[in-house]
Amino acid sequence: MKSLKKEPVVRVKTIDDIMGMAHGYQRSMALFAALDLGVFSALAKGPADAARLARDLSADPRRLSILLNALVGVGLLGKQGNTYRNGELAGRFLADGPHSKASILLHHLDCWPEWTSLAGRIRTGRRAPGKGKGYQENFIRGMEDNSRERAVSVATQNPLRDGERVLDLGGGPGTYAVEWAKRYPGAHVTVFDLPETLAVTRKILKEKGASRLVALREGDFLRDRLGGPYDFVWISQILHAFSEKECLFLLRKVRRAIAPGGRAAVQEFLLERGGTFPPGPAFFSVHMVAVTEGGKAYTSGEIAAIFRSAGFRRVKRGRPDIRGVGVVWAFV
Ligand SMILES: C[S@@+](CC[C@H](N)C(=O)[O-])C[C@H]1O[C@@H](n2cnc3c(N)ncnc32)[C@H](O)[C@@H]1O
Repeated sequence: MKSLKKEPVVRVKTIDDIMGMAHGYQRSMALFAALDLGVFSALAKGPADAARLARDLSADPRRLSILLNALVGVGLLGKQGNTYRNGELAGRFLADGPHSKASILLHHLDCWPEWTSLAGRIRTGRRAPGKGKGYQENFIRGMEDNSRERAVSVATQNPLRDGERVLDLGGGPGTYAVEWAKRYPGAHVTVFDLPETLAVTRKILKEKGASRLVALREGDFLRDRLGGPYDFVWISQILHAFSEKECLFLLRKVRRAIAPGGRAAVQEFLLERGGTFPPGPAFFSVHMVAVTEGGKAYTSGEIAAIFRSAGFRRVKRGRPDIRGVGVVWAFV
């Protein structure tokens, strides 16, 4: 995995940088609108002019052409005469296909209303309006978009032994569970998650032809039994949604579900330098303020301390990758 030191850090140095930061939402919204309309997937079928695209996407041609021109300006689309086509990045990551990041980007659009009331949230903790239709589907498919490549390297670098009982806690789309189960067929892998999530997981597993590879267990991990005993519990991108008190409660429960000699691993966006670095996890932490009651990004030191308080004996911290994602291991 690449070293964190190579991450390009964009710093605000001038008033123009501040203005750029302030206008950033306009670019985000232009991108989200194009995704929501289906522009990139439509152009993946072939170049088209605004009138033809507007017909295919049920949009107004004049307004659509203004949006398309802005996307040409930032290089996402190309334009020759009146005809638009996907740029290389748009074709690969924004149109439907095996590398698409559309679900995770649409999930960010779903979080938009909560960000618009961030100041009120920080002042009083007041919650923003409820989640719209399709929220859970974009969220869970977005988790798959995020972890597709990483799950392959995690499963390859962390082999399972025959007969091992593995729990992917809050496993969402089951991306990690499936990569482990494919490589180590002698292991028994279970995904534990909420019923509304597992409804999406079942669809994803079916699409991948992986329905028989992993078991699914429905439940709320704060209220319900986790099952077990397990030899290995994988807890990826879960703790950031919860307060330290809730994390301790959950890891104590995990500890009780682990067999003698077993292990657990927490994967998270990890903060350093008193929570100020790297910028990706630091802004992700603000995202958690906007969308959860008590969540935040943690440092690996904070996670190690919670593991120890939960009764784990030995803790090992891995190095974060270029996006700041790292794993903290704990052994019983
Ligand atoms: C950010 S996603 C992470 C998904 C997956 N572990 C990954 O790394 O790709 C968080 C997951 O935790 C699940 N989750 C949140 N609260 C939960 C609860 N109380 N009980 C069970 N699952 C929960 C969500 O449904 C979602 O699948």
